Amino acid sequence: MPRIRLQPSGILFQVPAGDDLLSAAANTGIRVPAACRNGVCEICEAHLTSGQALNTRNQQPIPVGERLMMCRSLALTDLELEIPAVMASGQYQPRTFQAKVVDVRSISHDVYRVELQLPGRRDVAFHAGQYLSVNLPDADPCYFSIASSPSAGNIELHIQASPEWVSAQKVIDALTSGQDVRVELPHGKACLAAAPAKPMVMVAAGTGFAQMKSLVEYLQETNFNHPVKLFWGVRKHEDMYLRSLAQQWHNDWAPFTFQPVVGDDEDNDWGGHHDQLVRAVLASGFDWSTVEVHASGSPAMVYTLMDALLAAGLPESAFFSDVLEYAPRG
Ligand code: FES
Repeated sequence: MPRIRLQPSGILFQVPAGDDLLSAAANTGIRVPAACRNGVCEICEAHLTSGQALNTRNQQPIPVGERLMMCRSLALTDLELEIPAVMASGQYQPRTFQAKVVDVRSISHDVYRVELQLPGRRDVAFHAGQYLSVNLPDADPCYFSIASSPSAGNIELHIQASPEWVSAQKVIDALTSGQDVRVELPHGKACLAAAPAKPMVMVAAGTGFAQMKSLVEYLQETNFNHPVKLFWGVRKHEDMYLRSLAQQWHNDWAPFTFQPVVGDDEDNDWGGHHDQLVRAVLASGFDWSTVEVHASGSPAMVYTLMDALLAAGLPESAFFSDVLEYAPRG
């Protein structure tokens, strides 16, 4: 299968025989701007910088250095294309929006599911696994993972809040006030600009599940067929606020397995510690040199997991977590 490299993002994808470049990119989850899909609107334009490609309109080869429409081009060899509109992980510039709060509902004893509508949603690009900030007047920004796939119409958040947790409770109060809220997105590099060509292991603690939900929904849309395993650790059964959804993925989506890890199930004092979750991940028997790991939870959990997995053979470049960015180790 020819391999296509997009520059300047460096994103790589493969084109199955007979597929046009736009369809192949979309099937890998790469967001190339497009409209007509018929060579007319020129929105999917790229420049061919190396390789041999064929224009399917006139069946003519496309000279290197010329522009092509990705929806109307086939790859005859590996190609390199220049298309600045396609960005790599973390390269979209964050922008602020007035978001309309469409729904806020309590889905557990302390987690709320929030749905936001953004103006001009079609033009707001983010990658699966990125996060946003809710910017209330006179308050520091509060950061939340986006729980929905980049293709979803509305943006979903999972917010843990209780009256003792003042900043999060303030956000819930603002979201339920009936007013629009100011949000800034996208943030975060621990995301997927394209589906990886290897098994994925996801490790979430608490509401870290939100980020994994975005990744899972995105991978499902790209027909990802490598194994995907989700470990979700919580302190008590009632904290696993969307267990039925994770179980449904497990039942309905062949590549996916779900392993809940509940502190209460073990005869020990879990007490918010993360060792049990890390032990479960390590015991799963993956060949760590061949997988990609995404982790979301407290810095203590993420660094304990990372150290254990790197010692077990995971390459450092295959471990992704927002914690590495917002709580770097000194
Ligand atoms: S999507 Fe319109 S030219 Fe390709």
